[in-house]
Amino acid sequence: MIVCKSAAELEAMHRAGLVVWDVLNRLRQAVQPGISTLDLERIAAQGAQQHGARPAFKGYRGYPCVLCASINQEVVHGIPSGARRLREGDIISLDFGVELNGYYGDAALTLPVGKIRSELCDLLRVTRESLDQAIEKVRPGNRLSDISAAVQQWVEKHRFSVVREFVGHGIGTKMHEEPNLPNYGDPGHGPRLEEGMVFAIEPMVNAGGPGVKVLDDKWTAVTTDGSCSAHFEHTVAVTLNGPWILTRPREAVGASW
Ligand code: MF3
Ligand code: CO
Repeated sequence: MIVCKSAAELEAMHRAGLVVWDVLNRLRQAVQPGISTLDLERIAAQGAQQHGARPAFKGYRGYPCVLCASINQEVVHGIPSGARRLREGDIISLDFGVELNGYYGDAALTLPVGKIRSELCDLLRVTRESLDQAIEKVRPGNRLSDISAAVQQWVEKHRFSVVREFVGHGIGTKMHEEPNLPNYGDPGHGPRLEEGMVFAIEPMVNAGGPGVKVLDDKWTAVTTDGSCSAHFEHTVAVTLNGPWILTRPREAVGASW
């Protein structure tokens, strides 16, 4: 069953989402050649603490950190480490979530480190745009798979591939609620979207083939062909006025992410 949230619950989720937005923006400011992913972890932990929010990832199924930091061919769930320093030309995906007063927010973005090659610029732009295409479908009366299909169509039109093994999800009083939300599929299937449903939509897109594998650390997912991968995510509510992105300020229309 997909739980619909009341207007007051959506406001509570927005408060959680704004913490996630603020922390990811602090990280965006900090990303530069030479910084380690453990430095980023510390910034994220301190940011959540300052807002009185509980980081949602640490301890989730045994995940050891508050932040997922995935570099280049790492797709998702990269574990921060003092030994991993960013270098000019890298891309880094940052995924962060919190719980605030019982409600969750979850978002991610991929950033360039200094100047990156043009194919990577395209990968980041197309992945971000695929999230926009998906968000556009978050309207009452549409079907769940319309969101999935929008991602896949946009990505494949631009000759990149969609990761199948990891999916978006419902979110609310738990980080992962029903339903699963794949980033691929035909439109017109699944439940109809209703006012108050909330989804974490999170396309993961590879520059090469779609294959991924998990490393021996049991977390870090990497592309099987070594190609680079990008990840963008927002927590988005269905409202009668259209999609409401809960992981950014209301006024951030046309924001870069
Ligand atoms: N955005 C990811 C998700 O929805 C982050 C989870 S990382 C974990 O699953 F460590 F918490 F698992
Ligand atoms: Co998520």
